[in-house]
Amino acid sequence: MANVTVIGAQWGDEGKGKIVDWLASRADAVVRFQGGHNAGHTLVIDGNVFKLSLLPSGIVSGTLSIIGNGVVLDPWALKGEIEKLESQGVTITDDNFAIADNCPLILPIHRDLDGLRETAAGSGKIGTTGRGIGPAYEDKVGRRAIRVCDLAHLDTLEPQLDRLCAHHDALRAGFDQPPVDREALLAELKEIAPFVLRFAQPVWKRLKKVRKAGAKILFEGAQGVLLDVDHGTYPFVTSSNTVSGTAASGSGLGPNSTGFVLGIVKAYTTRVGSGPFPTELDDADGQRLGERGHEFGTVTGRQRRCGWFDAVLVRQSCAISGVTGVALTKVDVLDGFDTVKICTGYRLRGKIMDYFPSHAADQAEVEPIYEEMEGWSESTAGARSYADLPANAIKYIQRVQELIETPVALVSTSPERDDTILMRDPFVD
Ligand code: GDP
Ligand code: IMO
Ligand code: MG
Repeated sequence: MANVTVIGAQWGDEGKGKIVDWLASRADAVVRFQGGHNAGHTLVIDGNVFKLSLLPSGIVSGTLSIIGNGVVLDPWALKGEIEKLESQGVTITDDNFAIADNCPLILPIHRDLDGLRETAAGSGKIGTTGRGIGPAYEDKVGRRAIRVCDLAHLDTLEPQLDRLCAHHDALRAGFDQPPVDREALLAELKEIAPFVLRFAQPVWKRLKKVRKAGAKILFEGAQGVLLDVDHGTYPFVTSSNTVSGTAASGSGLGPNSTGFVLGIVKAYTTRVGSGPFPTELDDADGQRLGERGHEFGTVTGRQRRCGWFDAVLVRQSCAISGVTGVALTKVDVLDGFDTVKICTGYRLRGKIMDYFPSHAADQAEVEPIYEEMEGWSESTAGARSYADLPANAIKYIQRVQELIETPVALVSTSPERDDTILMRDPFVD
């Protein structure tokens, strides 16, 4: 298995960016295959912090980085992110970066609609990132989207734009909003087009070539399995499939190309936005996890909700996504707790459950059943070998591994790239 697919196995922010960056130096290409700039992936290299939303995390190490067709692309966000990274010394050219020319675009009208809907939903809101992700995916499957390749044909775009705007005008009217200013939208597209087209190409072809040459491909997922539009905590999910299978359809390679599935798993649980969260803590322990883990969203700055590790959810995510091995991150955040808890099952109206039910009302009502373990007072921060970990931390990791029925391949002990313990190499396994 030469290729590796990295996915989040919880509600996102598991540390995918750090692990992808760490693996990227050994890969020949890194490919994003779903989501958009709702993602926020933080990389720390020798104290320098890089925050990526749309660009694959391989870009910082100079590895060929590709945005696949499964991504929804906001061209203005892309430009802003490229400029920011260039100001940090990262080189981005059409040699080391490519965008699928069949990517659907996120336009300002998508961001408008995302905001209007969230405001109208009041306390029932999803808590989206406000980036227009949902509305852009709706237009993609509604066969009305403007795509990257359309930017090369702006003179004949009018009928397509009319169809799209007619749809949005009807929706906007429901929110007492004026119709879309087509002229202004077209002018904005004309202005940004050359910037995007410089990188646009049929990336399936490039990937085919890369694969034929025997190169290693690293697929970088965004969000997490519990935010998957089918398998997640619907309707409190994102609008794409975040599971490993999407790596194939979202990049233009077959399912036999996706290789080792590395599930990124935080040693506890966090969630941003609304929706069920069985092990959420509203007490001092929750606050401590948030403070020690710096649990504030990269994209929106919102405080992340925190709770104990939920082995039921992660076992389910690993099964659904065919996870070969996991990277357990932020183990250091648990340093210093007298005891740590792991959720091993749920109670739902008196019944014991060993899986997370599909219905939103049941998901909201399940009560966690905990197993308590002794904590460790020693620091694991920055540990680079398994033998350096305290005995109780090793016991915790082993228990997690047992409960999720999936081997731990990597352990991460700080935000820094090299503070990573390798137990099983995903590229050679
Ligand atoms: P992603 O969305 O999955 O890439 O994760 P984020 O980057 O949004 O959030 C993870 C946060 O935890 C980032 O600030 C990382 O720098 C940080 N991080 C990653 N791994 C570790 C770790 O092992 N220990 C600690 N303390 N922080 C980590
Ligand atoms: P990374 O890749 C955490 C959440 C939002 C909201 C829901 C829907 O950094 O792990 P959307 O804007 O996608 O329509 O919002 O999904 N969400 C994330 N939560 N990490 C992310 O990405 C997320 N991307 C979206 O908070 O609950
Ligand atoms: Mg994130």
